[in-house]
Amino acid sequence: MMKLLVTGASGFLGWNICNHAQKDFEIFGTVFSNPLEISGINIISLDLTNFNDLKRIFKEVGPDGVIHTAAESRPAFCQTSPVESNKINVEATINLAGLCADREIPFVFTSTDLVFDGKSAPYVESDPVNPINIYGEQKALAEEKVLDRYSASAVCRMPMMFGLSSPAYSTFFQQTVRALREGRELTLFTDEFRTPISGYTAAKGLLLALKKAQGILHLGSRERISRYDFGRLIAELMGFTMEKIIACKQEDVQLNVPRAADLTLDSTMAFSLGFNPPTLNEELQSLL
Ligand SMILES: NC(=O)c1ccc[n+]([C@@H]2O[C@H](COP(=O)([O-])OP(=O)(O)OC[C@H]3O[C@@H](n4cnc5c(N)ncnc54)[C@H](OP(=O)(O)O)[C@@H]3O)[C@@H](O)[C@H]2O)c1
Repeated sequence: MMKLLVTGASGFLGWNICNHAQKDFEIFGTVFSNPLEISGINIISLDLTNFNDLKRIFKEVGPDGVIHTAAESRPAFCQTSPVESNKINVEATINLAGLCADREIPFVFTSTDLVFDGKSAPYVESDPVNPINIYGEQKALAEEKVLDRYSASAVCRMPMMFGLSSPAYSTFFQQTVRALREGRELTLFTDEFRTPISGYTAAKGLLLALKKAQGILHLGSRERISRYDFGRLIAELMGFTMEKIIACKQEDVQLNVPRAADLTLDSTMAFSLGFNPPTLNEELQSLL
């Protein structure tokens, strides 16, 4: 069985990959500050920013492929701690690409739709990046450096994701479901558009990329939706009325980190490789 190293197994996406890929791969999943167990997965505690430890683990595991999901994925943290977040988002990512290049094994790096400024969507892979916050800048830099170091890498730009999550992390989806169940109001942007996919669909897309992709690939859904309409769709499928979902615009809110308005990804290239995300309605129905 092919040995797959998944970084960030304790995170939302890494956890989804570990759960969905274990029938086809022997998986080694790295964790850092959340040392959780995942049934059927070889869990390794590792600070990816320590290059000596990373090299040692690489040698011990001898992976046949790597999916790199570990990141400092909180834009607010990156904005206030650019040096610290750069270590995992940029430096560790380049080091991983280098180790994969040395072994000539597939390397998939999870980037983000936030490499774009949100002013001229929809975005195809060849569109110029123009990040508007430090997290986006770090991801854009990592993309460039990864492909410089190992051009056979697949750089997958992920959209907003939702769905079942590792016990250590939650997403917009969990927060929305919890608020609705507790009868709390939710104020959501009507002018912030994304092409969201579930963690399960993302895992399938990344495994496809591991086999078939090189270079940049967008893994968004076919549907573009605002956060407000996404919240309403969740409420509707859960049988709640809409009165607790309050509409607002980005300009109504004091933002600590600049937020891009429309990050619609055109994922035609991934669709042609066989990426086939279900509709949002189907995704949410199977989750709820
Ligand atoms: N979630 C989204 O909607 C979204 C959207 C676009 C792109 N992305 C990208 O997709 C990828 C996965 O995101 P996610 O939401 O799954 O992230 P997440 O839930 O925040 O998980 C982050 C993971 O990174 C690990 N990590 C952080 N620093 C580390 C270090 N120094 N050494 C080793 N591991 C470290 C964490 O380990 P511990 O918890 O054990 O410390 C955790 O497993 C990231 O590249 C992110 O930028 C996510």
